Amino acid sequence: MTLDNTDAPGSPVKIVPATWRDLGGLQHLEKLSFPQDAWPLWDIIGILTLPDIVRLKAEVDDRFVGFIAIEYKPKEEADWIATIGVLPGFQGRGIGAMLLNAGEVRTHAPFLRLCVRASNLTAQRLYTRCGYYHMRTWVRYYHDGEDAIVMEKNRPQPALVGVDSASKADRLR
Ligand SMILES: CC(C)(COP(=O)(O)OP(=O)(O)OC[C@H]1O[C@@H](n2cnc3c(N)ncnc32)[C@H](O)[C@@H]1OP(=O)(O)O)[C@@H](O)C(=O)NCCC(=O)NCCS
Repeated sequence: MTLDNTDAPGSPVKIVPATWRDLGGLQHLEKLSFPQDAWPLWDIIGILTLPDIVRLKAEVDDRFVGFIAIEYKPKEEADWIATIGVLPGFQGRGIGAMLLNAGEVRTHAPFLRLCVRASNLTAQRLYTRCGYYHMRTWVRYYHDGEDAIVMEKNRPQPALVGVDSASKADRLR
């Protein structure tokens, strides 16, 4: 899949699947975009290789500038946004919104969820604009004692009128 950002002619943003070959790009992004919470190498390898994860990167002129990973949690019937980040020099151009939208259309659970630092108002504004609401607070969730805000979005499910229950279950995933 390639989505061109038609809002920015001359500087097209491509949203394409990420693979283990993006290890270096993702390490660089983690360091620059998550100074407090950068993942260790093993977590980065895991998010790029484990099954049942939707992983997409944003590229500008073939350069890795953003990433999103979404993991399905069957017990919650929810798709969790495990991470989303854009390189500082590329923020504020709509790339975060493009990644979020592209990840949402590639996943299917009834709920989308994520958690975000209480102080990260930029990210919370993006999520609110994209239809997420404050679901609960995890007190002192982060290693430095900061609270996490859990946000959720309900995904409209297709009408299931006249479908037997086995087929319904199939259509939810
Ligand atoms: C959160 C994050 C992913 C958002 O990415 P982004 O690419 O900056 O997001 P967007 O550009 O879509 O939106 C950010 C802002 O830019 C504005 N914007 C979007 N397109 C724009 C454009 N073409 N021109 C001007 N402004 C624009 C949006 O309105 C938004 O403004 P607001 O915060 O005042 O509402 C990014 O800030 C980031 O990587 N932060 C560090 C890591 C992080 O905190 N990740 C989230 C952890 S939960």
